[in-house]
Amino acid sequence: MALVGPPPLLRKSPFSVLLDDLRDERAASVPFPPGETRFSLARTRRFAEDPLPMLLQAYERFGPIFTLRLFHGNVVFMLGPEANHYITVSHASNFQWREGHFRDLIGLMGDGLLTIDGEFHRASRRIMLPAFHHEHIATSVAVIEQETERALQELRPGTELDLYAWTRRLALRVAMRALFGLDPDGQAARSIDAAGLFEEALAFYASEYFLRILRGPRSPWARLQAAARQLDTLIYAEISERRSSGARGTDIVSLLLDAEDEDGNRLSDLQIRDEVMTLLFAGHDTTTSTVSFMFYELARHPAIVDRLLAEQDALCDGGAPSAEQLLSGGLPELEMVLDETLRKYPPAWVGPRRALQSFQFAGQTVPARAFVNYCSWASHHLPDVFEHPEEFRPERFSAQARAALPKGAYVPFGGGSRTCIGMRFGQLEVRTIASLILTRCTLSLPAEFELTIRQMPTISPKQGVPVHVHARPSRHASDLPAAA
Ligand code: HEM
Repeated sequence: MALVGPPPLLRKSPFSVLLDDLRDERAASVPFPPGETRFSLARTRRFAEDPLPMLLQAYERFGPIFTLRLFHGNVVFMLGPEANHYITVSHASNFQWREGHFRDLIGLMGDGLLTIDGEFHRASRRIMLPAFHHEHIATSVAVIEQETERALQELRPGTELDLYAWTRRLALRVAMRALFGLDPDGQAARSIDAAGLFEEALAFYASEYFLRILRGPRSPWARLQAAARQLDTLIYAEISERRSSGARGTDIVSLLLDAEDEDGNRLSDLQIRDEVMTLLFAGHDTTTSTVSFMFYELARHPAIVDRLLAEQDALCDGGAPSAEQLLSGGLPELEMVLDETLRKYPPAWVGPRRALQSFQFAGQTVPARAFVNYCSWASHHLPDVFEHPEEFRPERFSAQARAALPKGAYVPFGGGSRTCIGMRFGQLEVRTIASLILTRCTLSLPAEFELTIRQMPTISPKQGVPVHVHARPSRHASDLPAAA
């Protein structure tokens, strides 16, 4: 096992990176797939604002593989079940994450699991996997429940709040405690607003493409760096404290501190910081969006809420689900709602890659060094795969309907050797938060609210999800047989 990290990104200046991209594109030895390949700032802007309709229109026009010129360069998109399977599983070794479309994330996360490839990625995953095994995750149920109970005190009937901001604070506290053994009420954590800092840092990825290459004092990049430095203070303090005290728990920081390869090499503080930052980001942003989108849809579908409440009444005697039910997805109605939420709104909506070698797919060629993306969000909206994709229909994920889905059709957690390492943890967390909210209250939206979605870099509700809190209605068990 090699604990040696990837080479530093040699081309530091964003301008020289752009020039290299243009050179790579000019050196292409085979043509790009058909598409919209002329430079257009308007297209770039439309894509940044609302990529889904553009991708679906291009799919209609060009089929499952096409090129869109975004900002300075061609980007190849591959959509649909075969495409997803091709990139994530059958030909995954021909695609690199690190040099792909989201390489800017390295500015926040450094060389954590998400942004690395090859042997270092395999070795890092091996080190971290034990922390995500079923038995280990089971130990987190109590923490997630405690934190949710604490947060639920704010959801009193009659109040109004932004569910997105509420969930973000909750998910960060959960990630800090359950994954890293960090005390969110400790002195170091209390002195910074971690949720706010992540918000600031991630705003970089929602800024205009041409602003992202600026490096001046008030540029989005400078704001990202300033926020990251404050988060670093918290993480490095924890690493240093654990190194000097020798204190270890079953959390990921402890695993990483003690990881050693066959030559006795250990991870540096910087490497540990990068993994922690990656997991803190990936572990709170995605679950926050999922809970928010789920309750947005539930507020618009009271009949589905009735079925969830009836299920709770029948299977949990009206109370909260057991740890086993939460871990195993033992509430089938809730499970279908979760799956459908992740179909319609997969938070990690795009899988950014760079092709190592040229290849052929669906009769088209793609040159070596091309940017190639798979996209769960668009793939989950193809009407030939999911009928009436705009409709929220949890029954698409009944056991029978799910078994009939083609391989690669449903990829909210990616696939292959880069499948989301936090999948089980994320599912557990969303189930727990959702079911505890449902035991206590129902949520409605203001009449005038219209959902808009931003991508920064995960998709989330642009204006948050403002909700009115109502008391939970009484028992629903009698409804269950008809719904189940
Ligand atoms: C609903 C919750 C979540 C969703 C939908 C989700 C989705 C995804 C997806 C689609 C990928 C693959 C991206 C690609 O192919 O480029 C991914 C990777 C990853 N996720 Fe998640 N994620 C979730 C929760 C979490 C949690 C809770 C954690 C950590 C505790 C986490 C950590 C990671 C990491 C580290 C990777 C990179 C894995 C690798 O490349 O080996 N995720 N996630």
